[in-house]
Amino acid sequence: MPKNEKTLRKPTVAIVGAGSLATFLAMALRDAGFSIAEIVTRDLPRSLRRARLLAAKVGAQAVTAHSAALDATLLWFCVPDREIHDAASVLADHIVARVLVHQKAIPRFALHSSGALLSRELDPLRRAGVAVASVHPLMTFVAGARPSLQGVPFALEGDGAALRVARRIVRELGAESFSLPASRKAAYHAWATLTSPLLLAFLVTLEEAARAAGLTREDARRKSLPIIKQTLANYSRLGSARSFSGPLIRGDAETVAKHLSALKKHPGAREVYVVLARAALRGLPVKNRDGLSPLLRAL
Ligand SMILES: NC(=O)c1ccc[n+]([C@@H]2O[C@H](COP(=O)([O-])OP(=O)(O)OC[C@H]3O[C@@H](n4cnc5c(N)ncnc54)[C@H](OP(=O)(O)O)[C@@H]3O)[C@@H](O)[C@H]2O)c1
Repeated sequence: MPKNEKTLRKPTVAIVGAGSLATFLAMALRDAGFSIAEIVTRDLPRSLRRARLLAAKVGAQAVTAHSAALDATLLWFCVPDREIHDAASVLADHIVARVLVHQKAIPRFALHSSGALLSRELDPLRRAGVAVASVHPLMTFVAGARPSLQGVPFALEGDGAALRVARRIVRELGAESFSLPASRKAAYHAWATLTSPLLLAFLVTLEEAARAAGLTREDARRKSLPIIKQTLANYSRLGSARSFSGPLIRGDAETVAKHLSALKKHPGAREVYVVLARAALRGLPVKNRDGLSPLLRAL
């Protein structure tokens, strides 16, 4: 009987890096029944300390590229985008030497999780015979928070064999995978950056505007949360247009003029207000466009 996915053994995993994504992923994979063999880190005291802490949590060994056994089936690079290629290069040299000198088996798959970069960042490993893919979770991972992966989309791109194993891992983590053409990755990551990092940039701007109204940042955060949460709940249930309220949908140009005047001493917040109001003109049911447009022309 041919083996189906359920009867295949879970690949053992080595994680490169011990930062935000590595920490989350190592624990999520361990909880989903994967064995984490090694946490590969830079040979620096602080890096090794972090890697040892993580390794202890998931029953792995903390190693450097040179001390790594690299006997896991799958390598998962969780290093900053700018480091992926070099880190892959160092490990590829190590793997090639192991094969030549010791005739040992090499990892079969290597993944990285950059949203913008392609699987070809892992070309040094590909050339050594490893199937590679990029696997980007559309989720935010920060210290102190452990998000659920239920229904979280993972964007996949790369070699067929690596994609097959990545799809299976994503499913076992409770998440969902989708394929992304290489030519769309940069645009995909621009969207991804708007979903959380730039949403945070908006929220910090909102705190600045609240300061103009005499509130502290902390007070602004607390007082804003009920309406922000309701807006997201409405957006989830009703979509963007039906969740839109405020002076722009009513076409209150005089009110908007007052806002712009009140924010004159807070140019950063004013700039964001104008840019977003223009976005509302483009994509939302704004009334009195003729009255509003001239106000929003100059920053
Ligand atoms: N965080 C997120 O929300 C998120 C979401 C989706 C995708 N990602 C992707 O995940 C990857 C990692 O992001 P992150 O947010 O987890 O970054 P991070 O918190 O800054 O962690 C990066 C880790 O990589 C290590 N590192 C750096 N250079 C290395 C090298 N040459 N060899 C081995 N380890 C090295 C760092 O260790 P030291 O500096 O201590 O040596 C650190 O442990 C990126 O590709 C990012 O695009 C992140």
